[in-house]
Amino acid sequence: MVKKATREGTANPSMVSYYLEENKNGGDIPEKVIMDIASDAYGAAVETTLSSIYGFLLQMTKHPQIKLKAQAELDCVCIDRLPAFDDRKNLPYIEAIAMEVGRWHPGVPQGIAHRLEKDDKFEGMFLPKGSLIIPNIWGMCHDENIYESPNVFNPDRFMEQAGDSSTVSLSQSNQDPRQMIFGFGRRQCPGRPFAESQVFFTMALILKVFNILPPVDAQGKEIVQPDAYRSGIVSLPKPFACRFVPRSNAAADLIKQTESERARRGEHRS
Ligand code: HEM
Repeated sequence: MVKKATREGTANPSMVSYYLEENKNGGDIPEKVIMDIASDAYGAAVETTLSSIYGFLLQMTKHPQIKLKAQAELDCVCIDRLPAFDDRKNLPYIEAIAMEVGRWHPGVPQGIAHRLEKDDKFEGMFLPKGSLIIPNIWGMCHDENIYESPNVFNPDRFMEQAGDSSTVSLSQSNQDPRQMIFGFGRRQCPGRPFAESQVFFTMALILKVFNILPPVDAQGKEIVQPDAYRSGIVSLPKPFACRFVPRSNAAADLIKQTESERARRGEHRS
């Protein structure tokens, strides 16, 4: 696909286009290796990231007050423009939503099994070499000793107010679930920084310009979407419906403006 797009002059820059270009300039990475790296990254990246993004959309259909608070923060930081990478440090509430999305329904609820290379001990239990260890990430993210009312979707659990001031920031005291949802040790997800920023920016961009609303029936009554998830190594929300409604004419203009900027830069939709 990338080779065809390159021939036709429509290829977006990507890892595959980069390595193919390197090979043209004397590089010698076998094509099979390029294909394997790309398919590994794709296989590990797509459903996991989508689990967070779909989970976020599903929660936004149910929690208008959370959406409003996030939009107020965005409107303060980026008044008449879309959020950019540099804004992230100034958007703690969006960060808190990203953390809560990961905690509330971790995309890989039982992680990936690891095998012990040598005998080990854990809380007085002997674990012989060769044992398979399956981390209960779901359990860790719903541990009442760490997270109060763990079944409630509540990004505020990660926020704190500084003294008597009105400044709110990310709390240092409640454990960041992203230390768990990407697995553990030297095989921890290598895509974590990429996934964290992609989830963060997808959420920030959507919230800046759209209201995410539940579908309505023939009488205009909102239809609550079930919190139903597909089970499996990667757990995604089952298909659900929602409406993307531009927040205002100014928001619709921002979307159109971004589209024409992308077209001017020669970026293509794939
Ligand atoms: C929210 C999104 C994601 C979540 C929740 C997630 C979660 C995980 C988890 C739990 C593991 C197993 C780690 C372990 O063995 O302890 C893993 C492995 C892996 N992830 Fe991710 N991941 C995400 C996104 C991505 C992305 C975007 C990429 C690539 C661009 C990626 C690439 C990989 C690879 C290659 C492995 C295997 C690493 C190895 O076995 O050494 N992941 N991920």
